[in-house]
Amino acid sequence: MSSMVSDQGAKSGDQNFDYMFKLLIIGNSSVGKTSFLFRYADDSFTSAFVSTVGIDFKVKTVFRNDKRVKLQIWDTAGQERYRTITTAYYRGAMGFILMYDITNEDSFNAVQDWITQIKNYSWDNAQIILVGNKCDMEDERAVVPDRGRQLAESLNVEFFETSAKDNINVRETFERLVDIICAKMSESLDNDPSLTANKQGTRLTETPMQQAQNNCNC
Ligand code: GTP
Ligand code: MG
Repeated sequence: MSSMVSDQGAKSGDQNFDYMFKLLIIGNSSVGKTSFLFRYADDSFTSAFVSTVGIDFKVKTVFRNDKRVKLQIWDTAGQERYRTITTAYYRGAMGFILMYDITNEDSFNAVQDWITQIKNYSWDNAQIILVGNKCDMEDERAVVPDRGRQLAESLNVEFFETSAKDNINVRETFERLVDIICAKMSESLDNDPSLTANKQGTRLTETPMQQAQNNCNC
């Protein structure tokens, strides 16, 4: 499967896309959420830590399976004091990147709490990928890959170890999440005959896609 990433559409405000996905990056403060998004959207990294205040977003357009998918990626603050603001953005999110830091046991132990936040504040059918970031810091590793893998398995989600710093598995994580969301969408279109009209020659935009999501029982 070939893929190509471009943000030209976002810069020009181009509305010519097949799908629009709202994604959120969540997890404890300092796990690397902002760095992960900057690596993906701007291919940049800084070792300075500027903790996110509230919430921010970037737009990126990807091509997957001949479809142009516009991603609206929300970068949330991990600090507890912003929880009321950030959880307000969970609604309508189609995918979550739930991140911990492989050098920080607490951030790994918090994963279950973040899952509870997702269950409480988002759609039932939102797709989740578990990410153990900072895998370049092997010397300071506190969470072995198997623990991440097992936790992901028990949560029935996919798992990547990544490095925003060394650009490991960043693009792969986003593309996998997009693929999972696309697969769920076509599953719900296949399963619900009332949505068939949307499949025939109609360009799917945000509205019908959300209908598809709402009808997904996954
Ligand atoms: P909040 O905004 O407070 O929720 O934190 P955050 O999750 O957005 O963390 P941020 O991206 O600001 O990164 C925190 C620190 O970790 C910064 O000093 C980054 O440079 C560093 N960092 C992020 N990703 C990596 C990585 O993959 N490897 C290494 N070595 N450092 C990283
Ligand atoms: Mg941040």
